[in-house]
Amino acid sequence: MIQFKGVNKVYDDGHKVLKDINLEIKEGEITVLIGPSGCGKTTTMKLINRLINPSSGEIKIRQNDISTLNPMELRRKIGYVIQNIGLFPHMTIAQNVGVVPRLLKWDKPKIEARVEELLKLVGLNPEIYRNRYPSELSGGQQQRIGVIRALAANPAVILMDEPFSALDPISREQLQDELVRLQQEIKKTIVFVTHDMDEAIKIADTIILMKDGEIVQTGHPEHILRHPANDFVKSFIGQKRLQSQNVLEAPTVDEVIVDNPATAFPSRGLAAAMKIMEKRRVDSLLIVDKNNKLQGSVSIYRVLDQYGEESKTVADVMKPVEHVVLTGTSLSVALNMMTEHQLSNLAVVRDDYQFVGLITRGSVVSLMADMYSSEIIGGDAHAAI
Ligand SMILES: Nc1ncnc2c1ncn2[C@@H]1O[C@H](COP(=O)(O)OP(=O)(O)OP(=O)(O)O)[C@@H](O)[C@H]1O
Ligand SMILES: [Mg+2]
Repeated sequence: MIQFKGVNKVYDDGHKVLKDINLEIKEGEITVLIGPSGCGKTTTMKLINRLINPSSGEIKIRQNDISTLNPMELRRKIGYVIQNIGLFPHMTIAQNVGVVPRLLKWDKPKIEARVEELLKLVGLNPEIYRNRYPSELSGGQQQRIGVIRALAANPAVILMDEPFSALDPISREQLQDELVRLQQEIKKTIVFVTHDMDEAIKIADTIILMKDGEIVQTGHPEHILRHPANDFVKSFIGQKRLQSQNVLEAPTVDEVIVDNPATAFPSRGLAAAMKIMEKRRVDSLLIVDKNNKLQGSVSIYRVLDQYGEESKTVADVMKPVEHVVLTGTSLSVALNMMTEHQLSNLAVVRDDYQFVGLITRGSVVSLMADMYSSEIIGGDAHAAI
């Protein structure tokens, strides 16, 4: 479907960003480009829709050399979901989704019908969402719009550059699941960029692992997990596992604390709380005072419910946090607690309620999965020797 033959890219400053890339992206598959920051993933993707051109080499889509195609026309045939959503803030959801069909001069009823169909496809009621503006949607909803906008004109190829990376872990997993489900219906050729091996393992038919402008290994996730080509691949797969190797037998909650939990001071107003949730794309905030003591939590529903009361602060609407764990608690105890009380996350505190951090179900499961898969990979490596 998409072929790169001996593709090189040198930027004007002489930096060689892609070195002799040869790859083949199969029709109707999700191909995930993954690798460390700066390895050339976005560059590879932009070559496909000619946002940039190669310094040498050839790129073909369905046997057509794309250097002979008009870049504008090519781009209209390729959906593109860029990082951080990129919806037009002054356009309604319907206008955002209809951007490319309008450029292609579809008539109005056809565009309206298509918008309706696509909103339904991702579980958003057209009556409710069609005339809203992007700022009136949650982060996950905005991202769904980003995805269906790329689908609008029914392109055969869709490029997605870290589309879910700004979302909280739970929304992120939901969207990954939805993408996989959606793909069963639409069967597009999707090129998906991510930093996150867990995401790649979950959604990819084929993974292309890159490093310093070169392809290190290509294959089905199962193949890469079981037969990592070299130490770089091994460490890329097992990064978290390596970090947690100092942990003795029983890992504790401290090993899985997430970076940057969304918090606010008790004196913040409700508009400020909304803004923080919107920015961080979460549906609740932990309230931590200036001495770093955990005071409570507020959900987006509480804030919306009381939003009309301009003088209220989050301290007025927060609820006590019912379940917390002490730093040093074993992970299995925390996990039992999350399961028993159906919690998606849990605050970690010291015994005087000093806030230490937040763990999420996703962060717990991923550590356990890493530990588990490290055994398989370790065993496999031995077998190979
Ligand atoms: N317009 C440009 N001019 C010069 N160098 C560039 C340009 N765009 C990107 N680069 C460099 O090319 C390299 C690859 O960039 P690219 O954006 O493809 O990386 P990436 O793998 O997508 O990284 P990330 O995961 O951080 O998004 C980087 O070293 C970057 O600094
Ligand atoms: Mg990039």
